[in-house]
Amino acid sequence: MGSSRVPLSLLLGLCLSVGLIPLAAAQGAPVPAGASAYAHVQHLAGTIGPRVAGMAGERQAAEYLAAQLRQYGYPVELHSFQFPFFEARSVQVQVLGAAPRAVVAQALLLTTPTPSAGIEADVVAVGLGRPEDYEGRRVTGAIVLAERGVITFREKVVNAAARGAAAVVVYNNQAGIVAGTLQQRSEIPAVAISQDDGRALLDAQRGGLRMRVMVDAVHETRTTVNVVGTKRGTVRPDEIVVVGGHYDSVPRSPGANDNASGTASVLEVARALASIPTPRTVQFVLFAAEELGLFGSAAFVAERRQGVVAMVNLDMVGWGERLMVGNTGRDEAIVELAVQAAQGAGIQVTRFRAGASDHASFERAGIPALFLHRGVDPDYHRPTDVPSNVDPRHLEEAARLTIAVVQELARPRSGQPVSAGMAD
Ligand code: BES
Ligand code: ZN
Repeated sequence: MGSSRVPLSLLLGLCLSVGLIPLAAAQGAPVPAGASAYAHVQHLAGTIGPRVAGMAGERQAAEYLAAQLRQYGYPVELHSFQFPFFEARSVQVQVLGAAPRAVVAQALLLTTPTPSAGIEADVVAVGLGRPEDYEGRRVTGAIVLAERGVITFREKVVNAAARGAAAVVVYNNQAGIVAGTLQQRSEIPAVAISQDDGRALLDAQRGGLRMRVMVDAVHETRTTVNVVGTKRGTVRPDEIVVVGGHYDSVPRSPGANDNASGTASVLEVARALASIPTPRTVQFVLFAAEELGLFGSAAFVAERRQGVVAMVNLDMVGWGERLMVGNTGRDEAIVELAVQAAQGAGIQVTRFRAGASDHASFERAGIPALFLHRGVDPDYHRPTDVPSNVDPRHLEEAARLTIAVVQELARPRSGQPVSAGMAD
């Protein structure tokens, strides 16, 4: 064995001539690989695990991301910013009365704590907790029981607080517990419970029900970092296209699909584009503290928006039927550009609208932004969002589409003449 060695160049030539290697790849066109991206998911979600804003896991992830971008040859900055750190120390919900029992609960992120003895009160169910759901209901001093869905957790809690409620318990509209964010510290304490427990309490409160809710939580200002790798434009270096995704996770979840998947795909785009010049500057930005309320992207936009002409956000791209392209609805042109790019790349996409991720911070500032997403998996925000939840082929597809879109966005628009290689 091994006696008949073939020179590598000959082998390469042979493969090319029989079409085993696409010519474009051999010439250095960007070719992302699902396997390389998946290795990042394994490191971020498998080795590091949860990456909660302001905690050690998030910092470890930032160092890993910075090291990767440096390895591809990009200068890297850590853009630090302050955010409202939150940590739930203990959460208890108890049914009182003749048959007392404990109900498993989680703090909604950024909930204000209760007094240390907790809050004891009658329970009043308020449907989804919209303003109209309160008609004919008195909730002053009560613990309000609301179902998840239709409006945000924050809106439910604001509506309850405005009517004098003492605390809010939100039950899930599907199996298990999902504890989302309130986006800023709430006026009254708010916790999440499962759908099954919610339905049982809904029945029980019809005959009168008292409960106790106790939340011990830390609120403080902390500092964290967005990781920024810069690929300087060859023609219009002052015009910047941002390609990003958040790298933090919610507490207790390894965040493989949400959002090691987007983070890994951004890294893979960065690797594939490393040797390919772009007329405009491209910045690869991995955002921190998204899960608490888009704080990383908001800080980036507040402090570093100068020159940013467009943004592409990848969040949850590792699971689901088909890639979706959209944004909050402010700028349809960039969505159309993505649909065209997908067509050119032979990738099937559907359009959708969503705001609950970092592109929304850019759109709020009037910057055209695009959201690439693949749908919500059953393990969303749960301890089971592990690397096996993510399909490497989906990461590759997300990276391919991102590259096609970025190459389009990184060319100055018509009316802005380009002469490659000449800075102006
Ligand atoms: N990855 C999700 C956003 C998401 C989920 C977008 C489902 C589209 C469909 C993100 O990390 C998240 O959980 N966002 C928060 C809201 C945000 C304003 C902090 C959410 O959806 O609860
Ligand atoms: Zn996310």
